[in-house]
Amino acid sequence: MKATVITYGCQMNEYDTHLVESQLVSLGADLVDGVDEADFVLINTCAVRGKPVDKVRSLLGDLRKLKASRGLMIGMMGCLAQLDEGQQLARTFEVDVLLGPGSLLDLGAALESNTRFWGLQFRDELHDHIPPAPQGKLQAHLTIMRGCDHHCTYCIVPTTRGPQVSRTPDSILRELDGLLAAGVREVTLLGQNVNAYGIDQGARVAGIPSFAQLLRLVGASGIERVKFTTSHPMNFTEDVAQAMAETPAVCEFVHLPVQSGSDAVLRRMAREYTRDAYLQHIRHIRRHMPDAVLATDIIVGFPGETEEDFQQTLDLYDEVGYDSAYMFIYSPRPGTPSYRHFADLPREVKTERLQRLIVKQKEWSQRRNAARVGTLQNVLIRGDAHDSGFLEGHTRGNHPVVIPKALGADGPGIYPVRIEHATPHMLYGHVVDAAGQPLPARPQLAPEAAAVSSPLAML
Ligand code: SAH
Ligand code: SF4
Ligand code: F3S
Repeated sequence: MKATVITYGCQMNEYDTHLVESQLVSLGADLVDGVDEADFVLINTCAVRGKPVDKVRSLLGDLRKLKASRGLMIGMMGCLAQLDEGQQLARTFEVDVLLGPGSLLDLGAALESNTRFWGLQFRDELHDHIPPAPQGKLQAHLTIMRGCDHHCTYCIVPTTRGPQVSRTPDSILRELDGLLAAGVREVTLLGQNVNAYGIDQGARVAGIPSFAQLLRLVGASGIERVKFTTSHPMNFTEDVAQAMAETPAVCEFVHLPVQSGSDAVLRRMAREYTRDAYLQHIRHIRRHMPDAVLATDIIVGFPGETEEDFQQTLDLYDEVGYDSAYMFIYSPRPGTPSYRHFADLPREVKTERLQRLIVKQKEWSQRRNAARVGTLQNVLIRGDAHDSGFLEGHTRGNHPVVIPKALGADGPGIYPVRIEHATPHMLYGHVVDAAGQPLPARPQLAPEAAAVSSPLAML
């Protein structure tokens, strides 16, 4: 069987795609790149906003046509699969296999069954399942917990992914060992709310350390870089900032979603912290890591958000001076409390506020990135950039970086890079040697040699 997985959504979905791809391989399938060659197309879906749901709907429409014309098995996994909305789509578009986020290990049973297969149970084995390490990659994700115990009123994730369950440190460290053996040098620990690691459904789980302790354990494993996402402000205790500062492998990057700068809106979102409490966390982070890179998520146009509420979000942005932000227009999700109880604001109001927020984000990102010009950054280079002759990578603070290929630095690795230019979304620089001098440029092929080596020139 030739199979392909198409992924929408967050890093947790990317991790689950890797897990399911390795299941497919162990079941004897060949992984192929596009839909054209595949006889099994599995869509890993996201339901967090209306847009990713629309994308899945239109893809399912195309796949149903292919199924009619040449025969094809269609699968749907991930968050949307767990919801009535997704199951309705599955019936309409003749989906053969449906796997909720807790049922990924049912894939084998699904492929064996000759009828339509729907797996929607949360299976405990998933927590101890260690997918094989990705090969030839310097970066990997590692899920340390699944589900979410918060009840933010706009959010569908607790419904799709269920209550929080932390993985044991033993299982996490074994997975990490496999990643290290495969040559991985940067790991991102994943959870909807990593700071609540070890406290499942309100109670500390026996034998599971706090997130701060886990950071120290992972940092001592020999991995060079550790990142994590996402942090919920309510659980961001000062010991996490301290563990970050005291563990050299843990990168000084914090993604701390604020969602809104207005206490009234935060209350209606049921975020469980105030603006002041959030700013107190930022002060802790800056005290322990003066050079920390800060990112956030913001929702604009939450029901009832007034112009004054929105101004408070803009003011908070200035007070923190974020390096980057993911900004979303509120999207009412059926099944969430805010969908049931509050009226959506007019589209124009929401888009106009988003525009103003984007202007602010660009100003700050430009300012923060410009302050890095002249500094030396360790850049994890993943490989070639879109422009030939250039490589792309990212810093410990997650800034994307583009650098020209140089002698001694023309492939994946971690290199010291002097930053020379900055835009709001990108840093540019050169790899330097131990004395801080740029490495010599890689010689370009002479035009004649280039022409001869081109397959077209042989014709
Ligand atoms: N667990 C993570 C969030 C996962 S969802 C956390 O709490 O930080 C990622 C982001 O999507 C959220 O931070 C929020 O900003 C956004 N989001 C979630 N539901 C949304 C909705 N209904 N409309 C718009 N944005 C939403
Ligand atoms: Fe959603 Fe809130 Fe849980 Fe994040 S913490 S996944 S926003 S309910
Ligand atoms: Fe989307 Fe589920 Fe992630 S709803 S954002 S794929 S947790």
